[in-house]
Amino acid sequence: VTVLGFVSTWDRAPDWKAALTALEPGLDFRIDPELGDARQIEAALVWKPRPGALATMPNLKVIVSLGAGVDSLRREEMPADVPVVRMIDPQLTRGMVEYVLYAVLRQHRYFPFFEDKQRASAWDQGGPVPDTARTTVGVMGIGVIGGAIARALREVGFAVRGWSRTPHAVEGIEGFHGADGLAPFLAECRHAVCVLPLTPATRGLIDARFLSLLPKGAHLINIGRGGHADEAAILAALDSGRLGHATLDVFHQEPLPAEHRFWRHPGVTLTPHVASLTLARTGAPHVIAAVRAVREGRRPDGLVDWARGY
Ligand SMILES: NC(=O)c1ccc[n+]([C@@H]2O[C@H](COP(=O)([O-])OP(=O)(O)OC[C@H]3O[C@@H](n4cnc5c(N)ncnc54)[C@H](OP(=O)(O)O)[C@@H]3O)[C@@H](O)[C@H]2O)c1
Repeated sequence: VTVLGFVSTWDRAPDWKAALTALEPGLDFRIDPELGDARQIEAALVWKPRPGALATMPNLKVIVSLGAGVDSLRREEMPADVPVVRMIDPQLTRGMVEYVLYAVLRQHRYFPFFEDKQRASAWDQGGPVPDTARTTVGVMGIGVIGGAIARALREVGFAVRGWSRTPHAVEGIEGFHGADGLAPFLAECRHAVCVLPLTPATRGLIDARFLSLLPKGAHLINIGRGGHADEAAILAALDSGRLGHATLDVFHQEPLPAEHRFWRHPGVTLTPHVASLTLARTGAPHVIAAVRAVREGRRPDGLVDWARGY
């Protein structure tokens, strides 16, 4: 019998209990702070864990993050030698794909322009329909989520390129990597999508220099983390017309303060960190697989490498 401790101040424990015990009926599911004898706990399912909670579990074998990113787990609180596995959930990935397809197509097909015209009862066909095959969309981070986004954009017919830390060969997607690959990657991006993990190497990446490397009038989509972007640089680039539009789901401070200029800027479309969420029903198989892999001495999918930060 696996004893699992649920340590999250955010997620709905009853949903996870139902989804996990449906797959493994013998599972002993305990919810923090009512963990019983914490020495019995082998697996912890966590998101923004209560400080000190994990330290009470000396026999922990694996920690599974309820989020795809592990930037909110305080590394110093992760017991040494206990593997940490990030969430991989097909529904989470699908949600991210939908969000980006919608954001790209909305700008690509000038919907904001037509929404304005409709408010003025104006029959205005605007400029010519853009050539999709000659419109380049760049995806920064082509891992589990970014890879699915890149393939979906390719299916729609865009010219797709990806940027990653290490080289990848994906059919029909032009690959760029590393710091040296960034400028040539950005040079053609009409739409640039950030779906990177937040690490020391990616923090603050979207700054004034980055924005100056995009084609004039480009569209930026940030669904990675707020820490990826210099918000003042985005506002300055929108004001100068260097950036045409920004679709933003993540911010330095969440909730975004009411006085922030993003709320009212005509060049910004914003959503309150909802690009995608993990569902217990679709995420549960990954949790069970991670626990089994560790128990059987195999490498679990989504194992975090703290040295690279994701
Ligand atoms: N807004 C939301 O609702 C939401 C929801 C889910 C996830 N997210 C964000 O999406 C992120 C990605 O998730 P994932 O599951 O796709 O992660 P993943 O599978 O680990 O993929 C990460 C990708 O980023 C690349 N990368 C990492 N560091 C880099 C660097 N310094 N320079 C260039 N590329 C770098 C990796 O390159 P390699 O391929 O070379 O390793 C990989 O392609 C999460 O960490 C989270 O921040 C946001």
